[in-house]
Amino acid sequence: MLAGKRILIVIGGGIAAYKVLEVIRRLKERGAAVRVILTRSGKEFVTPMTVGALSGEKVFSDLFDPTEEQDIGHIVLSRDTDLILVAPATANLIARMANGIADELATASLLAAAAPIIVCPAMNQRMWAHPATQRNAAQLAADGVRFIGPAEGRMAERNEAGVGRLSEPMEIVAGVEAFFTQAEKPKPLAGRHVLVTSGPTIEPIDPVRFITNRSSGKQGHAVAAAAARAGARVTLISGPVSIPDPLGVDIVRVETAREMLAAVLAALPSDVAVMTAAVSDWRPAEVAPQKIKKSAGDPAPLSFIENPDVLATLGHDAQRPKIVVGFAAETTDIEANAARKLATKGADYIVANDVSPAGGVFGSDLNSVRVLSAAGIDVWPTLSKDEVAERLIALVAERLG
Ligand code: CTP
Repeated sequence: MLAGKRILIVIGGGIAAYKVLEVIRRLKERGAAVRVILTRSGKEFVTPMTVGALSGEKVFSDLFDPTEEQDIGHIVLSRDTDLILVAPATANLIARMANGIADELATASLLAAAAPIIVCPAMNQRMWAHPATQRNAAQLAADGVRFIGPAEGRMAERNEAGVGRLSEPMEIVAGVEAFFTQAEKPKPLAGRHVLVTSGPTIEPIDPVRFITNRSSGKQGHAVAAAAARAGARVTLISGPVSIPDPLGVDIVRVETAREMLAAVLAALPSDVAVMTAAVSDWRPAEVAPQKIKKSAGDPAPLSFIENPDVLATLGHDAQRPKIVVGFAAETTDIEANAARKLATKGADYIVANDVSPAGGVFGSDLNSVRVLSAAGIDVWPTLSKDEVAERLIALVAERLG
């Protein structure tokens, strides 16, 4: 699978640099052509001689070396490649990448890169956990950079352990293979726009309180990621969640049901809409401008009014997407309730799941669903939320033709 692939490895200055020698060997064994740039500090940990012997190619390091620039030049170096692997990626290297700093050949090449980039962090666990590093890593992820690791385990420092270790060489090689497998998969939704809602909504009561529900956003985010992998342009409209943003999607963050509806309508036209959000059915009739005070045993002074139904509005809209998918969260009479939603909300499919506490769906990575459409009911086995998303996107792609 790696035969003929051109991989550029940027080796940063960390103790784990020696492990990357093994990565080079394994990638070469699998037929990849490997070129290496050593950062200035990377050279302190592995020598150009060793790296060159393993890669079988000239090793690059100096931005201002006239022979290196004449031989190939940093722009070509970063363009003439199918993938760039940064390993070990130190906290300092990640910080420079996140901020677009091009202060040596390695970072200049990363800034000039057109190829996809995979970063393999390696540092002390405190450095990885530091808010600055987390901010920088999140920025890179938002820029489309992929990550392998860091792994958990013992640190180079005595008696320290935690998350920060470089992933094992074979895990890195497997990650690289998985990247190419994914990249070469057919893209049945290329050229399509897919709209996904995800997560809960929250409805304010007063300046300090709100009502919401237990939705984690995992299923909706998985659908958005699957649609992006299938080649679609994806707009993910999400209520507040604590899971990472999926790769390669445009995110619109909202809080209330009304904001979600406005964001959905603003994102039209789209070919497909998958409404997985757990939208709050009601909101407080009024949002109190000040914190509501309790008064001697009285019931809470709250009354609720109904929220707009995002799915039903879209299902009957003049700009209705070609395919509209709703979810149904049920605790009783799953099929009857889901069939009613299919009929009333203008959906082509309703994916029904049992969210009774015994089912343990909320927050879990698994889901047991049945899919209702005009053609009938299809019961799917218990699958991971990622697998449910893959299957659903495959179904939609097939229907779109
Ligand atoms: N939905 C929506 N807007 C709402 C309520 C629900 O878009 N105000 C969507 C959900 O995203 C989901 C589908 O409608 O795709 C069904 O949601 P669910 O909570 O199961 O059903 P409800 O319509 O709220 O009906 P009920 O509360 O009676 O089960």
